[in-house]
Formats: sequence, structure tokens, C-alpha cells
Amino acid sequence: MDKKIAVIAGDGIGPEIVTEAKKILSVIEDKFNHRFEYKEVLMGGISIDVHGVPLTDEALEEAKKSDSVLLGAVGGDVGNSKWYGVEPSLRPEAGLLALRKGLELFANIRPAYLYDELKSACPLRDDIIGDGFDMVIMRELTGGIYFGERNTQEVNGILKATDILTYDEEEIRRIAIRGFDIAMKRKKKVTSVDKANVLDSSRLWRKVVNEVAKDYPNVELEHMLVDNCAMQLVKHPRQFDVILTENMFGDILSDEASMITGSIGMLSSASLGKTKLGLYEPSHGSAPDIAGQNVANPIATILSAAMMLRYSFDLDQEADAIESAVKQVLKEGYRTIDIMSQGCNQVGTKEMGDLIAKRI
Ligand code: IPM
Ligand code: MG
Repeated sequence: MDKKIAVIAGDGIGPEIVTEAKKILSVIEDKFNHRFEYKEVLMGGISIDVHGVPLTDEALEEAKKSDSVLLGAVGGDVGNSKWYGVEPSLRPEAGLLALRKGLELFANIRPAYLYDELKSACPLRDDIIGDGFDMVIMRELTGGIYFGERNTQEVNGILKATDILTYDEEEIRRIAIRGFDIAMKRKKKVTSVDKANVLDSSRLWRKVVNEVAKDYPNVELEHMLVDNCAMQLVKHPRQFDVILTENMFGDILSDEASMITGSIGMLSSASLGKTKLGLYEPSHGSAPDIAGQNVANPIATILSAAMMLRYSFDLDQEADAIESAVKQVLKEGYRTIDIMSQGCNQVGTKEMGDLIAKRI
């Protein structure tokens, strides 16, 4: 199979972790007889340095022409970096939002799975962990407060900032359908998360999710308020299968869910739209404080590449091969520093990539 992949290494640890994901993909090419053609695309801080904007029209076009996009991470240290003294639409993260919107990737899938081998890295008590948990956060990605009107004005000498949260029923319906579809392939439970006791947008969310649920009689649906969900994730994470939620709630809850798996450095993500073209990136950020030191955990990016094979290219066997290799390396006791525990072997970014590559 011949596929064209747009590669956005981005900023901070982005280039290092993407290098490892490409290392793994090249083993897949050899072993399964595929050809991946890469097109390097600039986005985020690096694009600001070169072009003055976080995403050029040409870069977006390049991504649109590809079969999928593999992304490292974008952004710098918000308090300290040269990229943040400018208006928000020119900052690195604006590039990522424009890319998601430009490719119409409204469905963001973030799995949170506790590997047996990483139980000791999980901050929860053993009786809460039990035999582990395995959930997926289905986050709406191109609507809500991230994309509503925003401004800062001075009114009677007082600064006032506004961000508008809007959803229409079609935007809710299409993500809800994705959430139920994925639940059908899993444990058949959807927890729809909102703030319907306060927000109109959440009341509409709940109404539409209830309508969609009628087409999935085999899926159990429950509604949960977002503050309660934040609590339940650390109190009883095993209750969750698919968490279906809007953009900002999903951003926050996915960081929480990832942390209880031991490290945010383990979590992959896929952003999908109506076509096969998807964007695959780790759930974590660019970690500028550890960039260039060969200590970042490349597993989230490597698992994102596996998701790309599965969802965009329908290469399930190849994706399985990567996922098993990751498990194998963890079982053998190799760890990057973020998931290190006593008696294990600490390795760097490159060594982790090499180990996984060999196990495939
Ligand atoms: C994420 C990130 C982004 C988001 C930022 C970098 C804009 O936190 O992918 O979760 O909030 O979506
Ligand atoms: Mg986030």
C-alpha cells in the first residue's frame, strides 16, 4: 500500500518523538510491504519563526492533499517564550486549531488504558485500580468555546474578556453518532458528560444525545455532570467505557484520564472527520523544558502512528503489531523516566524507539 503522510514535527519534544514514530513506521513498511511517503509540514512556533504565522495556507493545503497527518506537538512555554507576546491568532496553538478546523476533524478519540506493567506508575490506590481500566474519551474538536467569538474590550475603564460557547444540534449529533459507533465495538456503554444544570449548550447536548441513543438500543447511556465526572475518574475509573463530551470538557478530562494511566506520555489520539484523512498526535504537549534531552517518552506518538494505520489506512494487523511491541517492551521492564519505577531499566527516547522497532 502506498500512502502519503504529512508530518508535522512541531516544537519542543515534537521532532524527537516524531523521529521515533517514523522509525517504527519504517519497520512496518519493510515487514508488511508498504510505502509511506512523507511530506514535512511546518506548524506552530517553528512556522512562526520561518513564515511569521503558525500555519500557512500552503501548509494546510499540503495536509489536505495527504492521506493522513502525523503530528508531534506544538507550542512553547506560555510564560516565557517569544511566541506569546503577540495576538492570540498568531500564537503556536492557533495553528493546531486552524488545522483541526481546516480539515474538519470534529471527532477526537483519546484512549486511556492502564497497562498491567504500569500499575505501579498509576497514582490511584490498588483497590481503586482493581483489574485496571480501559476507556476512550470522544471529544468534540471543532466547536464550542474554542471556536466561538472572543474579544477583550475596555468598558468604562475596566477590561472585559468574552469567549462564547456555541453548539448547534448537527455538530452535537455527528460527534454523538461517533461516540455510539465506537461504543458498539467496545463495552457498549456511553457516558455523556455535560453541565446541563447550568448551560443551555449542555441542555441541547443532552437532548441530541438522547435522540441519537434511540438508534443504539444495545448501548447503555448515562449522563454525567462534568464536575462529577472529574471526581468519578479518580474514584471509580473502571465504570467508564466511552466518555462523550464537548471540546473544552474533553480537553480537561482527557488530561486527567491520561494521568491515571501512569503518564500522559503514553496516550495517543486520533482526530477524524467525514473522510479517511485523520490527524494523529500524542495527547500531551510539547514539553519545552525537556526538549532535546533524549528523555521524552515517544510511546504516545508511536501509538498514534498505530492509530493512523488502523483508522486511516485500515491496516489492523500492522497496528496490532505496534501495540504488541509496545506492551512487550514494557513487560521486559524498559521505561522512560516519566514511567520509571524501581527495578526497571531506564532508557532514553531513541532507545525506547529502537526497542519497540526490534520487537516488531
Ligand atoms: C490538546 C491541547 C490543545 C487543546 C491546545 C494545545 C490548544 O491541550 O490537544 O489537548 O486544548 O486542544
Ligand atoms: Mg489538552
